[in-house]
Amino acid sequence: MHLGLDGKIALVTAASKGLGFAAALALAREGVQIAICSRSEQNIHNAASQIRELTGESVLPIVADVTRPEDVARSVQETVDHFGGLHILVCNSGGPPAGTFESLEEAQWQQALDSTLFSTTRLIRSALPHLRGWGRIIVITSTSVKQPIPGLLLSNTIRAGIVGLCKTLSQEFAPYGITVNNVAPGSFDTDRLRMLHERQARAAGISLEEARRQAEARIPLGRLGRPEELAHAIVFLASEAASYITGQTLIVDGGQTLGI
Ligand SMILES: NC(=O)c1ccc[n+]([C@@H]2O[C@H](COP(=O)([O-])OP(=O)(O)OC[C@H]3O[C@@H](n4cnc5c(N)ncnc54)[C@H](OP(=O)(O)O)[C@@H]3O)[C@@H](O)[C@H]2O)c1
Repeated sequence: MHLGLDGKIALVTAASKGLGFAAALALAREGVQIAICSRSEQNIHNAASQIRELTGESVLPIVADVTRPEDVARSVQETVDHFGGLHILVCNSGGPPAGTFESLEEAQWQQALDSTLFSTTRLIRSALPHLRGWGRIIVITSTSVKQPIPGLLLSNTIRAGIVGLCKTLSQEFAPYGITVNNVAPGSFDTDRLRMLHERQARAAGISLEEARRQAEARIPLGRLGRPEELAHAIVFLASEAASYITGQTLIVDGGQTLGI
């Protein structure tokens, strides 16, 4: 299959580790010039060096917090200034805090909105002028958009709105040659998931290993996802091969979500 990604330019946010890093690495392996951002200067520079070493591609590290509107606009501008354009935007951010309705405070709602929904709308607003003609927008969401996850009320609530946003933009941006899709990961072996398993283990009075074992037992394929397995779905949606796919949610979860 011809992916047609060689020489394209991408910005992947929240990409010093985990799913964002895997997406950036997989795109770079296909010859994409990559800008990546995260809040920690040391982590994002380390990530960029790693991708450069593994792929030989040019990688631009940007220190930016996607909850801050000025950082979002600067990330897009620095990418365009450095590489001379932007074709692919992968919107990722830190996950919203875990908790139930009664345990979550107003400030955490705002934090979650800034981190997930508003980081996405702001990134898209800044990137839009550069994506016109040939563009790909891919948002990393969660299976919570199809099936609420116990204890993740903010993800369950806000990410559904992001899917509404993506579907609407797929209509509004189609005349510009821009596709808009989201990938919905199930349970991937990252620091974020480890943190959630630690929380579950504490609540249930079991070990971390037991919490992980129980999580794996709920997945039909019998194991957590490897970050590169989500990244491959992102590469496909970013590619020329996915030119007729827009407004979709691609669930990547080892069979965990039962809705049809
Ligand atoms: N892992 C899963 O199974 C799973 C499943 C469903 C959904 N998700 C969602 O997918 C996203 C990524 O998850 P992950 O598992 O890859 O998490 P992770 O391993 O904890 O990595 C999070 C990344 O985001 C960066 N980051 C966090 N807050 C940021 C901010 N405000 N601005 C810029 N960068 C920021 C972090 O770097 P710095 O600390 O340097 O900023 C790090 O690179 C999250 O929204 C998560 O909820 C994950």
